[in-house]
Amino acid sequence: MADLGYDGKVAIITGAGGGLGRSHALELAKRGALVVVNDLGGSVDGEGGSHTAAQQVVDEIKGAGGEAVASYDSVATPEGGKAIVQTALDTFERVDIVINNAGILRDGAFKNMDAEKLEPVLDVHLKGAFYVTQAAWATMREQSYGRIVNTSSAAGIFGNFGQTNYGAAKAGLVGLTRVLAVEGAKDNIKANAIAPVAKTRMTEELLGAMADKLDPAFITPVVAWLAHEDVPVSGEVYSCGGGHVARVFTGVTQGWTDTESLTVEDIRDHFDEIRDEDGYLVPANLTEELMATLKALGG
Ligand code: NAI
Repeated sequence: MADLGYDGKVAIITGAGGGLGRSHALELAKRGALVVVNDLGGSVDGEGGSHTAAQQVVDEIKGAGGEAVASYDSVATPEGGKAIVQTALDTFERVDIVINNAGILRDGAFKNMDAEKLEPVLDVHLKGAFYVTQAAWATMREQSYGRIVNTSSAAGIFGNFGQTNYGAAKAGLVGLTRVLAVEGAKDNIKANAIAPVAKTRMTEELLGAMADKLDPAFITPVVAWLAHEDVPVSGEVYSCGGGHVARVFTGVTQGWTDTESLTVEDIRDHFDEIRDEDGYLVPANLTEELMATLKALGG
């Protein structure tokens, strides 16, 4: 089969001055996309800012014969989201792909969590993806075309010590992805998410000896496929790292039903059946889950 290209497609990649975002930007540009390299250029915990990171990636893309423009706005406010999308429209006149990748870390055990750790993390990851995507939404609807890739994390989907703020933001991104998939379906807008693991400045110390097996370049093909015209799915989440790729999904057990007189003792006595994973369902959306409930009720 032919190689996959992005000729003429305009891609916004947030947090693309380094790490995973930089890798995505270089690859999409190499394959013909016109890229907005957005990065605030701050530290891992979100302090400070500089134009250097985004500009270097733009220079790298242009040096290799590609097309790119830098954007230094923060994703974390509605104005920032609009400014990033405006850069794409002013420069390339379209927005086809939004890769929400910008992120910061402010870890700490829950007993030590406070508003200073919580709010900036929610602002950058969760609200940032919301604001940038929303600013691009009207254009995508007018074009009847859009591809959105959100960057979630196993920390939120499965849980990880010290990351209540980050985990909540990253699990929120799964919810955002799923609702965007439902709302975007009629306009050929597809939204999917990844839960990556890779060696970057954010994770280098945490990953220890494994780090060298986890090059960011192993994440980019998954993101690129989810951002491609031909991607067949929407509302899905893919775990990836070091060359391994797997689907993460939310399932519902067959459950147990008593429509006559449900008591707390019934729940205790049938808890194993309620939890039994055999024959679970993977609903594509709320309606499918509701239909399963109604069916169990004999409807
Ligand atoms: P990174 O620190 O190299 O990249 C994050 C980039 O986002 C930085 O260049 C930073 O300047 C930029 N950024 C931060 N706040 C911003 C803002 N308000 N506006 C615009 N840009 C901003 O780290 P990495 O690992 O490349 O992270 C990329 C994404 O992948 C993040 O969302 C992270 O949470 C996620 N992720 C990474 C994992 C890993 O193993 N590296 C694991 C799970 C998720």
